[in-house]
Amino acid sequence: MSYLHRSEIKLGMTLNQVLVSPDGNMVLGQGTVMNEYLLSCLRDWNVKGADVIQQAEVEFNLAEIERMISDIVVSLTDNASIETHLQSAAQVHSEIETELKGIFLRARYQGIIPLDTIISLVNMRIYPSLSRKDSFIQLHTDGAAEDYLYRHALDVAFLSGYLGRWLGYGDSEIWNLTLAGLLHDIGKTRIKFEMLSKPDKLNLEEFNIAKFHANYGYQLLAQTGIVPNVVLDAVIQHHERMDGSGYPYGRSGTEISMLARIVAVADVYDALISNRYYRKGVSPREAIKIMMFQMEGQLDTHVLACLIEYVGKLDGTNALLIFHDLAM
Ligand SMILES: [Fe+2]
Repeated sequence: MSYLHRSEIKLGMTLNQVLVSPDGNMVLGQGTVMNEYLLSCLRDWNVKGADVIQQAEVEFNLAEIERMISDIVVSLTDNASIETHLQSAAQVHSEIETELKGIFLRARYQGIIPLDTIISLVNMRIYPSLSRKDSFIQLHTDGAAEDYLYRHALDVAFLSGYLGRWLGYGDSEIWNLTLAGLLHDIGKTRIKFEMLSKPDKLNLEEFNIAKFHANYGYQLLAQTGIVPNVVLDAVIQHHERMDGSGYPYGRSGTEISMLARIVAVADVYDALISNRYYRKGVSPREAIKIMMFQMEGQLDTHVLACLIEYVGKLDGTNALLIFHDLAM
């Protein structure tokens, strides 16, 4: 391992520790393998240098990439127990969704947020599953549009937690991310159910009403007095965008908390791949394209790069190839 200046860091090298930019933002996690896109980001982030493991100084060639792809495909298909794992993950997700449905209904009709039940769900069911890949695969399976609110809450909890882990965050931050993901849309329980279940996209007036769910969520959770401030911030800011185009306050860049930026990426990705009343979900690859190009400048780039890397693995391909593919 050694500290190298930015100009000496090459394709295929692995970061030996979390990389923090001069303005204090955690930009890449420990263990990140540098690809062309991330190398170009180092200059944008004003990073002077980093500790890297130099074992990968050899040329990053196509044969090596193909071997990695082959390994991933084999690991996904050759493991006799993978189907059992996925069935088990599906069962776990289904059980949690049922519990979440009850939680959301209590919040809607009784005004009660059963935080003890929610926290034990995170502690006992969701957080421990973040070390397994089957839950990540599970959130890519089809679900019914009528279950979207509960399923999406669970998916964003898992995905926010995974992103925190992949980005190199510590246990308490990953736990907070998981809770924030689970509760990010709890404010929708203050929005009329008929509006949320419309078979068409919301009109402008309805959309302006729906936007208040971020504030409602903050209010509902703040009044409990025990939800951490970082989680409250993530809940109210999960629709803020890096270029200032989001809501409720039009914050931009570092005005938006890091946890909120991660939940935002998880939220957008899962919303795109999920079936809704008014449209079918798109493929993971299509979702990534939309996030990179149609939403250019709106999402945190290093969080998005991290998601792309792992969605690439899910596809049995490689992030580098996805970038090349998307750049066409
Ligand atoms: Fe939302």
